[in-house]
Amino acid sequence: MEALKGVRILDMTHVQAGPTCSQLLAWLGADVIKVENPVGDATRGQLRDVPGADSLYFTMLNCNKRSITVNMKSDEGKQVFTDLLATCDIIMENFGPGVLDRFGFSWERIHGINPKIVMGSIKGFGSSGPYADFKAYENVAQAMGGAMSTTGVPDGPPYVTGAQIGDSGTGLHLAIGLLAALRQAERTGQGQYVEVAMMDGVMNLCRVKFRDHQRLTRGDLPEYSVPTYQDMGEVPRAGNDSGGGQLGNAIHCKPHGANDWLYIVVQEAVWEDLARRIGPEVHVPGLAADPRFASIGERRKNQQLMWTLINKFAEKYNKRELMEILNALDVPCGPIMSTEDLAGDEHVRGRDMWVELDHPQRGKWWNVGMPIKLSASPAVIQRSPTLGEHTDEILHEVLHYSKEKISSLKSAGAFSLPPKKAA
Ligand SMILES: CC(C)(COP(=O)(O)OP(=O)(O)OC[C@H]1O[C@@H](n2cnc3c(N)ncnc32)[C@H](O)[C@@H]1OP(=O)(O)O)[C@@H](O)C(=O)NCCC(=O)NCCS
Repeated sequence: MEALKGVRILDMTHVQAGPTCSQLLAWLGADVIKVENPVGDATRGQLRDVPGADSLYFTMLNCNKRSITVNMKSDEGKQVFTDLLATCDIIMENFGPGVLDRFGFSWERIHGINPKIVMGSIKGFGSSGPYADFKAYENVAQAMGGAMSTTGVPDGPPYVTGAQIGDSGTGLHLAIGLLAALRQAERTGQGQYVEVAMMDGVMNLCRVKFRDHQRLTRGDLPEYSVPTYQDMGEVPRAGNDSGGGQLGNAIHCKPHGANDWLYIVVQEAVWEDLARRIGPEVHVPGLAADPRFASIGERRKNQQLMWTLINKFAEKYNKRELMEILNALDVPCGPIMSTEDLAGDEHVRGRDMWVELDHPQRGKWWNVGMPIKLSASPAVIQRSPTLGEHTDEILHEVLHYSKEKISSLKSAGAFSLPPKKAA
C-alpha cells in the first residue's frame, strides 16, 4: 500500500517549485488533484518540443496527478473549489503574492471551511518583510539566497547552479513541512499554514557558506584554494573547492572534453596511498614522504601544487580509468556525468531513476524517477494528465455532483476561460 494512500491534495501549484512537491507526494501515494487555471499551467506550453503536446517541462513535474480546470474568477468555480476544499487534507499553492486572497480565499477563510486542512504556500520571499510583495523565479532565489555569490571563481561573475535549488529545493522543503503539519492535524484535528520562501530554502542549502562567513571573523579559511583573510566579510567564490574539511577538486582527464573530469576528495586517510600511487608517474617518487604534503595543514597550504601533480597524473587516463585507479585506493571520487552519461547509465537505470513513460500527445518520453525509496511502498510512476482530463471524474467521484449539476456549472463557465481583464 502506498504510504500516503487516503491523503487527498488540492494542488493549485504551477511552474516548478510547487509541482515538484506535489509530484513527490503523489509518488508517495497521495491523490493529487491539480486545480488548473482553464488556460492551463503555463509550463504546458513552455519550451514545447512536440507541436500541440504538453511540454516536457510540464510532463516531468506533474506525474500521477489528476487535472481539473476551475475558473476561480467565476462564482460557480469558487463554489466547486469550496466543495473540493472540504474533501481534502492539504491545499497547496505557489501563486504570486496575494493571488489567492484576491480570489477571496485567505488562509483564515480556508481554515474556516475545513479546520483540519493543511495549507502549503511557496512564495519567493514569504509573506512578511520588505521583499514580501516580489515575485521570484529560480535564479532570483539563487541570487538572493547566497548561492550565486558563492558559486564561480573570484575573478569571474557569480554563477547559477544547474540544480534547481530555488524551485525544486523549495518544493522539497515544503513537502517536509506539509507532512509534519499533516501528522499534527491527524492528532489535533487542526490544520495549519505552512510557508516556505524560496530565498529561505536557498539559504538553508547554503548553510556551510554561512559557517564560513562566521569563521572569517576569527581567521582565514585554510581549506579554500583562493585567498581568504580575517574580517574579509564576504565568503568568496571558490571554484570547485570541496566545501568541507577535506580537500577536493575536479581533475581534467583524457580526452579533455567538456565533461572529461573526475571530482576527487583527497581525504586525509587516503593521502599516503594516493601519493605512493601517483608519485612515481609524476616524477616525484618520494611524494608520500614529502614534507610539503606531510599533514593536512601542509597539503592545504600547498594545494595548488598538489592539484597540479594530480592533474599531471590524470593526463594519461580517461575519467573512468582514473576512477578505477582511485577506487582501488579507496579515494572518494566521481566522474562528472553529463546528462547523456546519466540517461544511459546502468546504475541509474537499475535504480529506476530514468523511467520511460507513454503520453497520448507526445508518445514515449522519459522522466527522472523517484529518489526516495520506500521498501514497502515503491513509487509507481504514471504519466502527467492532459488539461482538465479528470474534470468530470472528479466532479462525479469526489464531489458526487449529478450530471445535471455538472452541465449547468459548465454552461455557467465554472471550468472555462476566465473573462479577459478590461484594458
Ligand atoms: C512564478 C510566478 C513569478 C509567476 O507569475 P505570474 O505568471 O504572474 O502568475 P501569478 O501566480 O502571479 O498569477 C497567476 C494569475 O493566474 C490567475 N489564475 C490562476 N489560477 C486561476 C484559475 N484557476 N482561474 C482563474 N484565474 C487563475 C490568477 O488570478 C493570476 O492572475 P491575476 O494576477 O489577474 O490575479 C509567481 O507565481 C510567483 O512569484 N510565485 C511564487 C514563487 C514561485 O513559486 N516561483 C517559482 C516558480 S517555479
